[in-house]
Amino acid sequence: MTDLESRAHLSDILRPVAPPRVLQDVYTDDQLARLLDVVRSEGPWKLIIAQHFANAEELIATLSGNFPEGFTPTLDMFLTPTFRGFYANYSAALYPEIHDCFYNAQFLEHAKSYWGAQYAKPQMMLFNVNGPCGNMDPGHLDSPSFRGVRYENSPTWLCAVMGKSGLFTDYLIKMAQVITWFSHDPGSGFTYWPEGPAKAPGRLQPPIYNRGVVVQNEMMMHRGEANGPLDQQRPAGLAFDTVFTGDPSDKDNWLLKTGDR
Ligand SMILES: [Fe+2]
Repeated sequence: MTDLESRAHLSDILRPVAPPRVLQDVYTDDQLARLLDVVRSEGPWKLIIAQHFANAEELIATLSGNFPEGFTPTLDMFLTPTFRGFYANYSAALYPEIHDCFYNAQFLEHAKSYWGAQYAKPQMMLFNVNGPCGNMDPGHLDSPSFRGVRYENSPTWLCAVMGKSGLFTDYLIKMAQVITWFSHDPGSGFTYWPEGPAKAPGRLQPPIYNRGVVVQNEMMMHRGEANGPLDQQRPAGLAFDTVFTGDPSDKDNWLLKTGDR
């Protein structure tokens, strides 16, 4: 296979079972308040990249975009102030106050209808938080799971490479995600490649506040977009071990901590 043929082949594999479905008014005000309270009080939360990757090679294995010849990406390139925490895992809500957000009858109907499936169960729920944030992501796939080889028991890079090889699709766990944004930024949308990365992308137009998509992000290339003023997109002192938490003295304030700072 030539390079071009193998790219076309990969592009054919990297397609979701169905294009994204857009949702409006995903959470009630009451649900959002409870979800935010967990973020505020149950941290501190680590950066995404600090949770999933030990080094740049591991991260790059999950990226399917091609970098220019001779260009070596470094971990620092991906050091963006995006923090992550889990609300639920292994089908269990980790905080009882958000049980209805996780065991969400509407979300299960969305997932079933997206796949044409008769049954579905919730598996995991997480949040990402960022302030102004750059983004150099050329597009990525989320970590897929296979029978016996799952994101819970295997390294991210392994699941990612298994996914985009196309060799294990018979064993792929059929998943859908309901992703919701709470952003007022007029320039920050969501880019996705529903026909494979060699075809034209689609875009969920900003601002995206309490709107969402039903997707299969293990098989559909996608990326969040940069947001906020350019000069604020990299907070001073941001490091691999910076954490995010609510300010106990003010409900409307948030803290970034790196060591003692
Ligand atoms: Fe993703």
